[in-house]
Amino acid sequence: MKDIRKVVIPVAGWGTRSLPATKNIPKEMLPIYNKPVIQYVVEEAQRAKIKDVIFVTNRDKSVIEDHFDYNLQLESVLERGGKLDKLEEVRRVAEMVNVMSVRQKKQLGLGHAVMCARDLIRDDPFAIMVGDDLMFGGVPGIGQLIEVAMSEKMPVVGVMEVPWEKVSKYGIIDGEEVSPGVYRVKDMVEKPAREDAPSRLAIVGRYVLTPDIFDYLEKVKPGKGGEIQLTDAMQALARDKGMMAVRMSGMRFDAGDWAEFLTANIYFALQDEDLRYELLGMLKNFVQFN
Ligand code: G1P
Repeated sequence: MKDIRKVVIPVAGWGTRSLPATKNIPKEMLPIYNKPVIQYVVEEAQRAKIKDVIFVTNRDKSVIEDHFDYNLQLESVLERGGKLDKLEEVRRVAEMVNVMSVRQKKQLGLGHAVMCARDLIRDDPFAIMVGDDLMFGGVPGIGQLIEVAMSEKMPVVGVMEVPWEKVSKYGIIDGEEVSPGVYRVKDMVEKPAREDAPSRLAIVGRYVLTPDIFDYLEKVKPGKGGEIQLTDAMQALARDKGMMAVRMSGMRFDAGDWAEFLTANIYFALQDEDLRYELLGMLKNFVQFN
């Protein structure tokens, strides 16, 4: 399999779970500590040596592309003010990756969003990262998939075990474990009822796919929720040509879930030595009085 150089990041969702915060701000731009959610996702891609990022956007999301571009006015203010560390930081973000974008003009589902990137992907294998899913610790999340895709020469999907009461929120795979944490996918189903779920192995928004997925997406009928589901196209691809799943290590936060979003904020703030003790002190007091 050729090197994975491109990632598709669908960002055209409404962010209804995070309203009213997301009424006029894309959910991907909500901050987790001092960076917007989307920056963590792009940093993960960059650590896995992915150079080209394709955002699948809508009309209200151009601020996401701007975040990964230079802001000359701001840079000159920082330079004149001698704030050189901040200057370096904002320039670094602009230089992380090449940014491309394509509009998803109708919100017809994740599979449809991926389909919108077809002409930018062409014949190369590529990654997909769902912007709500943040992965931390150890080997960069998408890098874990790339490793297996390269050695098995097959598409790979990232999974994690979730409690049975949550299986209906995810794509769920049925797989045969061929080596520790690596599965050959036998089947997969989008958001099954608990009693229909073949396992607790949930797809967590990281994929490495081959361009033949587009032929399957083209044929797939609207599925769960009347949407064009990526899971349905992958199910057909897995049956015809084979697919692997990797049980991902590290931590995962769903940025669209308030409890996880807030936990992620505290987690990252606690990594900052300058903030850690002050924050811990405040949290301790707060917990005592609640
Ligand atoms: C999408 C996918 C689902 C996957 C999930 C991971 O669902 O359709 O298979 O498990 O992302 O976050 P969504 O959360 O967009 O409804």
